[in-house]
Amino acid sequence: MRTVFLKETSSTNDDIKQYLSEGENTVVCAERQTEGRGTKGRSFSSERGGVYLSFLRFYENFPASEAFAVMTHAAVSVCRTVEEFGISPEIKWCNDVLVKGKKIAGILIENILSGGFLRASIVGIGLNVTNPLNGLEDIAVSMGELLPSPPPAERVRDSLIAHLAQESGLSDYLHYIRFLNRPIRVTEGEHTFLAIAREILPDGRLLIEQNGICRPLSAAEISITF
Ligand code: BTN
Repeated sequence: MRTVFLKETSSTNDDIKQYLSEGENTVVCAERQTEGRGTKGRSFSSERGGVYLSFLRFYENFPASEAFAVMTHAAVSVCRTVEEFGISPEIKWCNDVLVKGKKIAGILIENILSGGFLRASIVGIGLNVTNPLNGLEDIAVSMGELLPSPPPAERVRDSLIAHLAQESGLSDYLHYIRFLNRPIRVTEGEHTFLAIAREILPDGRLLIEQNGICRPLSAAEISITF
């Protein structure tokens, strides 16, 4: 796997696209990003001291219907990384990694699909190490706040790259899910309601139960809070 290290860039998820025609798995890391991108068109604060990387991975014969595996692998890799430094994470379905209820890492995935198959994926990960949280302290946390002597961001980055190079599956992802069979608040369009989270299905949809009736919903349709 090729690894590219940058001091500063706009967004590693954009940089990595120049390698799409080459067919070699590649990681691009940056010490800071000036236009870090999050999900749902949001920006992602990316000051020096954090880990910001994008992992471009190519696949053969990978059905598009199984693309949730890309998300589970990314989230598990982040969880294993922070655990290695003595922190206990949990996954908030479907793509946030939390510690003590606050977000320590965000994941942005861009899939390249054709003919019903996943050809390549770009997994962008931002992980808070000692970077300032810039006013997001109520909802975000960093390794620096959780550990008496936090590791340098480069060590965390190298651990994350090593975990991304290993395999993981849905059962590993479920190991970090703590909210099943508990009430959650679901926002679907204009409506917010309480439901019980019952199961995460292999295609990534969340099975919720409301008034005794179960229905599967995708992350594109709803957001949840605990
Ligand atoms: C989110 O929580 O909304 C997802 C955040 C993803 C941030 C990472 S940092 C590395 C890569 N480059 C980007 O511009 N975004 C992702």
